[in-house]
Amino acid sequence: MKNIVVLISGSGSNLQAMIDACDSGIIQNARIAAVVSNKADAYGLERARQAGIDTVHLAASDYSDRETYDRALAERIDAFQPDLVILAGFMRILSHEFVRHYRGRMLNVHPSLLPKYTGLHTHQRAIEAGDKDHGTSVHFVTEELDGGPVILQAKVPIFDTDTAEEVMARVQEQEHRIYPLVANWFLQGRVCMAEDKAVFDGSALPPHGYAAEG
Ligand code: GAR
Repeated sequence: MKNIVVLISGSGSNLQAMIDACDSGIIQNARIAAVVSNKADAYGLERARQAGIDTVHLAASDYSDRETYDRALAERIDAFQPDLVILAGFMRILSHEFVRHYRGRMLNVHPSLLPKYTGLHTHQRAIEAGDKDHGTSVHFVTEELDGGPVILQAKVPIFDTDTAEEVMARVQEQEHRIYPLVANWFLQGRVCMAEDKAVFDGSALPPHGYAAEG
């Protein structure tokens, strides 16, 4: 049985998708060993408790700087011996030391078709740019913010009358579908990171990930 540790800051809908995927067998032979949040009131902590999963809250305000916080965070995570660390709406910039520690075994979901729209407010920015397509990317985490190699993307349309909330809901529906799938690929050894590229079944994936166009 492999161990997953999920890091959250908020609602935890992606965490819920992972919990459900472990229950349904979409993720095989793995369990969520712990959910860690930097926010005490993150609803995802409640989701974890309801699922009987250990929770950890670590407040950044209790630590003098990012490096010290990240070291404490890694210590708490490592107590659960994770095979995979999943960032699921964990809204903090990570120190390079932390990223290096989990290199090749830490995934993130980012709400845009990377490399477009790294950072925040991705849905609003896509609407304001007049984009007709938007989406989400699951990628390995490297030192470059939202810059690690993409494994899988899902595309959704943006309609003329859409608000950022409507686009976000459409994007998250896809996140809940593709993120558990990629987590399972990783845990089954089908996807890994080598020389800063995502590798699927032995072949390096193109910049937009598996089966993407162009
Ligand atoms: C997700 O949509 C995820 O893509 C985004 O936060 C949301 C968390 O929702 N992540 C980022 O913006 C990271 N840069 P959730 O708490 O309901 O899973």
